[in-house]
Amino acid sequence: MKSILDNRPELAKQVGDVAEVAGYLWQKGWAERNGGNITINITDVVDDEIKSLKPISDKIAIGRTLPNLKGCYFFCKGTNRRMRDLARWPMDNGSVIRILDDCAHYEIIADNPVKPTSELVSHLSIHDYLIGKGSSYKAVFHSHPIDLIAMTHNPAFLEKDKLTFLLWSMIPETRAFCPRGLGIIPYEMPSSFALADATIKELEEYDVVMWEKHGVVATGEDIMEAFDMVDTLSKSAQIYLTAKSMGFEPTGTTLEQMNELRDAFNLPK
Ligand code: 13P
Ligand code: ZN
Repeated sequence: MKSILDNRPELAKQVGDVAEVAGYLWQKGWAERNGGNITINITDVVDDEIKSLKPISDKIAIGRTLPNLKGCYFFCKGTNRRMRDLARWPMDNGSVIRILDDCAHYEIIADNPVKPTSELVSHLSIHDYLIGKGSSYKAVFHSHPIDLIAMTHNPAFLEKDKLTFLLWSMIPETRAFCPRGLGIIPYEMPSSFALADATIKELEEYDVVMWEKHGVVATGEDIMEAFDMVDTLSKSAQIYLTAKSMGFEPTGTTLEQMNELRDAFNLPK
């Protein structure tokens, strides 16, 4: 069967990376059923032939107007689709969409009329925000990591920057590779505008945002970078939980040690 990926190595690489990460998510136990979603801004690798492709769906309302998305194209995981299926058959479980000129509707253009994720409002609002601030980030990623979600069930961890410092202190990598830390927003209805708006507010300060009792959202240059940040945070959570299950409170590295790392690596904050 013909695919939009045929003879387009750059686009095929991006979708291939999404499929690879989707497989990791299933293996990690972060992707029960259809849990989690990924969207990639692929506008940079869209050629004139793609621009002239006829839609394979009706016009679909985004639900809000996102002016920075004019002329943009995205690869999106399909709603209700499994990560473990996206891993093997990305173009049957995800689709390419085109934002229409009114910036309030989109249409599906390839390969199959797979309706994008139910969290599309959050994803597109985040892409709109990233473009608006001149960011080169192209990936938005949402997942359900068990350890990080479990931590949000403890009110003590919901305090601003509490989890960031705790997770940073578990292993130097987390301080180095998740340098802007972890924002947390109180529980909101999945797929809601309120969830989208609260997430964007936190992204002004952080690259990764926890949705209390639901999951995590990460942004990055590409899907690998976004995944790596969550994976690193999850590793820290695992170290914390392992120490606790051995019956002691882990000491963690000191603030001085974390700051020494920040200065040596030229990290923000
Ligand atoms: P979708 O299957 O619609 O992507 O939803 C999964 C999810 O994690 C919702 O938050
Ligand atoms: Zn979710």
